[in-house]
Amino acid sequence: MIKRKLPSIRMIFMMVILACAGITPAQAGDVTGLRGGVPLDGAERSPELTKWMPDSHALPRAYLQQPPLVPHQIESYKIDMRQNKCMTCHSWSKAKETRATKISLTHFRNRFGSEMSDVSPQRYFCTQCHVPQKDAPPLVENTFKPVEAIK
Ligand code: HEC
Ligand code: HEC
Repeated sequence: MIKRKLPSIRMIFMMVILACAGITPAQAGDVTGLRGGVPLDGAERSPELTKWMPDSHALPRAYLQQPPLVPHQIESYKIDMRQNKCMTCHSWSKAKETRATKISLTHFRNRFGSEMSDVSPQRYFCTQCHVPQKDAPPLVENTFKPVEAIK
């Protein structure tokens, strides 16, 4: 009978568990992450106080598609469900008086390609892509060079 030859659900479940048992979480190699080598299930230390670079003007981009770096401090700027501090200067209506760069038009396009009247949810958390600057040594060596033709 066919029914007898098929492994039971319980059997398959056990096999999956056994297969997973030998696997440990991936190690980060030689790079010490922001958690300072504390394992994922360990208690994290409170972050060190960072000395950010003083406010300046638009910084050079390493390649054309790069999200521009934030050339000013953003320490107390909140971005949450109710407020987005960045937009109080970078929105199109405020940019003139604050002299901030207008937020890119591409940020109003949602994931279906429709143009919206406000920032797309994909772009709401600005600091996912735009990062403030600190004089820090690179964590890994990098020999990246931009394409000459579209620098
Ligand atoms: C108080 C006003 C103000 C706030 C709030 C503010 N910015 Fe700015 N930002 C500026 C100004 C002014 C400039 C332009 C500096 C210059 O080029 O002289 C600027 C420049 C930038 C640039 C560089 C643009 C380019 O073309 O290189 C980025 C990126 C940026 N800000 C991101 C942010 C993010 C992200 C936040 C929120 C966490 C934020 N800003 C909040 C005023 C502000
Ligand atoms: C998913 C990544 C991402 C997020 C999130 C994001 N940006 Fe950008 N941003 C970019 C990239 C990439 C560019 C450069 C290409 C472009 O203009 O689309 C850019 C360009 C800009 C510029 C420069 C525009 C110019 O004319 O040179 C400003 C200002 C800016 N973003 C502000 C913001 C603010 C404010 C937020 C949050 C409300 C935000 N961005 C969220 C990726 C992002």
